[in-house]
Amino acid sequence: MVRPGSLGAVVILAGLLLSTPLIAATRVSKQPFGKTPEGTAIDLYELADGTVEARIMTYGATLVSLKVPDRTGKPGDIVLGYDSAENYIANSPYFGAIVGRYANRIAHGQFQLDGRTYSLPKNDGENSLHGGTRGFDKVLWSAHAIENGVEFTCLSKDGDQGYPGNLKVTVRYTLVGNALRIEYSATTDKDTVVNLSNHSYFNLAGEGSGDILQERLEIHASRFTPVDSTLIPTGALEAVAGTPFDFRTFHAIGERINDKDEQLVRGKGYDHNWVLDRKSASGLVEAARVQDPASGRTLRVLTTQPGLQFYSGNFLDGSIVGKGGHVYAHRSGFCLETQHFPDSPHHANFPSTVLRPGERYHSITVFEFGTTEGK
Ligand code: GLA
Repeated sequence: MVRPGSLGAVVILAGLLLSTPLIAATRVSKQPFGKTPEGTAIDLYELADGTVEARIMTYGATLVSLKVPDRTGKPGDIVLGYDSAENYIANSPYFGAIVGRYANRIAHGQFQLDGRTYSLPKNDGENSLHGGTRGFDKVLWSAHAIENGVEFTCLSKDGDQGYPGNLKVTVRYTLVGNALRIEYSATTDKDTVVNLSNHSYFNLAGEGSGDILQERLEIHASRFTPVDSTLIPTGALEAVAGTPFDFRTFHAIGERINDKDEQLVRGKGYDHNWVLDRKSASGLVEAARVQDPASGRTLRVLTTQPGLQFYSGNFLDGSIVGKGGHVYAHRSGFCLETQHFPDSPHHANFPSTVLRPGERYHSITVFEFGTTEGK
């Protein structure tokens, strides 16, 4: 029998429990994760909030794994990658890495700024891709734990990969609730150009579980930037209406990917920048949503950036053996890279990527996870 006094205590205790915030604090821990070829230690930070677990290493400030529950509550790793840092160093198509100084391509590996011409490494045919041969994906970043996450910093020296200015870069990953937030900032001591992104390959059914063609995508964009045969934007902002690039409502990624559309042929699938529909140039807005019918997992992408590169993993061809011996076949992961438009230094009609001394580059992208019921 419950005495009246003890019942009161139970009621007070229950009340206290209910008033406790449901979002538990994120645990942040660190462990060794191999060494660079020069013998420098690489660290792996783990952020865990009880539901989602993210692991990020100092080499490339790379998101190495991201475990989220499916609709039955079973956790699965939804990003492609490797089990060891050595494999990332040996051969990675930017799996999970921070890309910079300039995410995506700059035509002919050169650009003009303030009347001067700067030459960059050509590491993608005639073009410079993702910051050059030693972009930020290949930098060993400094790191320390912060509230709910980890902060990475690096100094890219004046002339690094041909870019002007000493660029101080900070990237913060934080995990709160079901959302992984990436906040980028940078300052320079000379006029330069900057475009930073994260190059995670997602497969919401779980990395190594097959292709992503049945996953359903929505992108809030009425226009995209068509490309030439080397994937450099032509400069046009073209309407998506009536094309396979119209993701204003949900479509399976594979539904139209093999259409005889010249842009799809050039990209070998989707590998294009969408011009996000935004009411104002700043502020965090929802850019895209993805649903996986098989696992029920969902992803929401929010960003302060003007563009989104949707890349359907067209260059994956089964030659990479990733985590747990999984073979990463054609289109077994997709990237949603929030960004300024590719090759902006050559297109005055695109939002500017110029950063000057005294200014601060700042952008935020959030990946939020959930589940849907049924198929
Ligand atoms: C980006 C590019 C693609 C490809 C990948 C890496 O998403 O747009 O063309 O180079 O990076 O393989």
